[in-house]
Amino acid sequence: MTQQTGAAESGPSSAATLDNLLSENRTFPPSEEFALAANATQALYDEASADREAFWGVQAERLHWDTRWTQVLDWSNAPFAKWFVGGRLNVAYNCVDRHVEAGHGDQVAIHWEGEPGDTRTITYADLRREVAKTANALISLGLSAGDRVAIYLPMIPEAVFAMLACARLGLTHSVVFGGFSAEALRTRIDDAEASLVITSDGQNRRGKVLGLKENVDTAVRDADSVRNVLVVRRTGNEVDWDDSRDVWWHDLVDGQSEEHTPEAFDAEHPLFILYTSGTTGKPKGILHTSGGYLTQAAYTHHAVFDLKPDTDVYWCGADVGWVTGHSYIVYGPLANRATSVMYEGTPNTPHEGRWWEIVQRYRVSILYTAPTTIRTFMKWGSEIPAKHDLSSLRLLGSVGEPINPEAWMWYREHIGAAATPVVDTWWQTETGGIMISPLPGVTAAKPGSAMGVLPGISAKIVDENGAEVSRGGGGYLVLDQPWPGMLRGIWGDEQRFRDTYWSRFRDESGPIYFAGDGAKYDSDGAIWLLGRVDDVMNVSGHRISTTEVESALVSHSSVAEAAVVGAADATTGQGIVAFVILRGGDADSADEGAALVKQLRDHVAKEIGPIAKPRQILVVPELPKTRSGKIMRRLLRDVAENRELGDVTTLQDSSVMKLISSGLAKPG
Ligand code: WTA
Repeated sequence: MTQQTGAAESGPSSAATLDNLLSENRTFPPSEEFALAANATQALYDEASADREAFWGVQAERLHWDTRWTQVLDWSNAPFAKWFVGGRLNVAYNCVDRHVEAGHGDQVAIHWEGEPGDTRTITYADLRREVAKTANALISLGLSAGDRVAIYLPMIPEAVFAMLACARLGLTHSVVFGGFSAEALRTRIDDAEASLVITSDGQNRRGKVLGLKENVDTAVRDADSVRNVLVVRRTGNEVDWDDSRDVWWHDLVDGQSEEHTPEAFDAEHPLFILYTSGTTGKPKGILHTSGGYLTQAAYTHHAVFDLKPDTDVYWCGADVGWVTGHSYIVYGPLANRATSVMYEGTPNTPHEGRWWEIVQRYRVSILYTAPTTIRTFMKWGSEIPAKHDLSSLRLLGSVGEPINPEAWMWYREHIGAAATPVVDTWWQTETGGIMISPLPGVTAAKPGSAMGVLPGISAKIVDENGAEVSRGGGGYLVLDQPWPGMLRGIWGDEQRFRDTYWSRFRDESGPIYFAGDGAKYDSDGAIWLLGRVDDVMNVSGHRISTTEVESALVSHSSVAEAAVVGAADATTGQGIVAFVILRGGDADSADEGAALVKQLRDHVAKEIGPIAKPRQILVVPELPKTRSGKIMRRLLRDVAENRELGDVTTLQDSSVMKLISSGLAKPG
């Protein structure tokens, strides 16, 4: 189920996996105790189906509005939605100040834990002060509402301060994952025309200090839009400095006033841009706005994670560089006054029990992570979590890729004491918040299934022609009603927005949203996600497009042509496998071949980031192409997954596959 094949292209092994999945008939209802105390009950489904828009109006009441909206949804200019029309609010005020004003200033907002073992405890009162100071600092740099700010930081509290300070001032942030390369950062800075970059001197990774500022130095060289670089001192390593441009965080922020009066912005004011991979090489700047986004983040965090702000300790193990970090580390939990854990480092530094030590220390009660991480923990062995007291955990969540039933079961058994509900949550950067998930106090969950749409959301699985498939059938996942957290566009590219999401399927009322995922209903109508049906790979829960990696490979002087596929991988979901044709033919010796393969992997890391490094690079004499010249990735995937070859009749030259298969003994 971790393959890229969906309804469009079911290879033999995906069919086998499907059968396996659909025979899954274990169900795990919540305990009576959990169900009785749950935030969300069956009534929520009833309310939402009675009147969807009225339902979202009620959910928006979770927030403080300076001006109430006059209309819940304006869909007259579809696919451009306006939610909570006429409403005005300040997102940061909602996440911070109002909790302090309500008497919760002493409640811990963030238990932060650095990789080397240093810690910080940040209460809501502290957070209010830090965000106000940061906002005042950004004003002193001349920024004003509507300007774009790139944030390229490790998992340190300043990342949260910076995001909230932007939100407070109506600046649109673009967080770029710290694992992306200088090149990738530059593309994102240019596309958004960011005037400020916030970064740090370095980051801690597996006990080592990695540079970060140096990537920014490379990225902003001759970047027209960037006026300043604001630098947090985190690791104390040496950095190059440009006095006319660079400012230390501690020099600028520490001395600022702790007072800042928030201003209300329109519900549709741009809150952030987050770049994600599409089917072409150029990443898409997914645009999210304020009122609807925050409503859905807060509502889903309340309903799916069952947060009780006075007693729970919540931990989402994502990075703020991804949408999961935006919605479920920053905006959702803080809007709901959660006490959260935030961890800077990797799970095995300094030892493989680090996460469980943290759960035990802070008495974490809700944990949210990705299947890749769970499978890694499985590999390390259940005796590692068993050494720690995990009895505080009462709810577990999964996100980012399909979770295989084995990982789901292991998670519940070894982390959740065979008792906690497990919620498998499906959503995307584009959806802003969770769309498909069990409700932990209601749903009898099946291991491996995201089960059903949340109250207020509408989705279905359709065939090629847009007709809904029946139970037991598979096809394409579509979202056939607008939702508050939906993307409002692709930054600067209206046509691409229409083409990518809204042109494939329509119903009687107009265009509907195509998610790019394959899915299936089982005989009970539960939804099983099957992975992407486009040229997007999912590696450890990270979206990477095949074209992006191909472009990186062909930008190397030795490569004439490249084709990239995502092949099933037991730990990472998919692994990147590249097939390359060298300029001037084959490498002369095995050693030379091995050296070149290493060079190419490093080259991809430099162009995109280490997450995009191919797991395997195979040097081949030819690539399989259709008569119209399109690379047949399906066949390459068969090779990469050691499967019998599928149908080769549409190949321009069917002997190519023999050549490729016979070349597989090559180094790499
Ligand atoms: C995949 C991450 C199966 C899916 C929040 C989607 C999932 C893409 C699940 C979005 C899940 C996410 N089960 N697949 N529970 N959650 N996906 O934008 O292919 O980084 O389209 O957002 O991840 O990835 P993104």
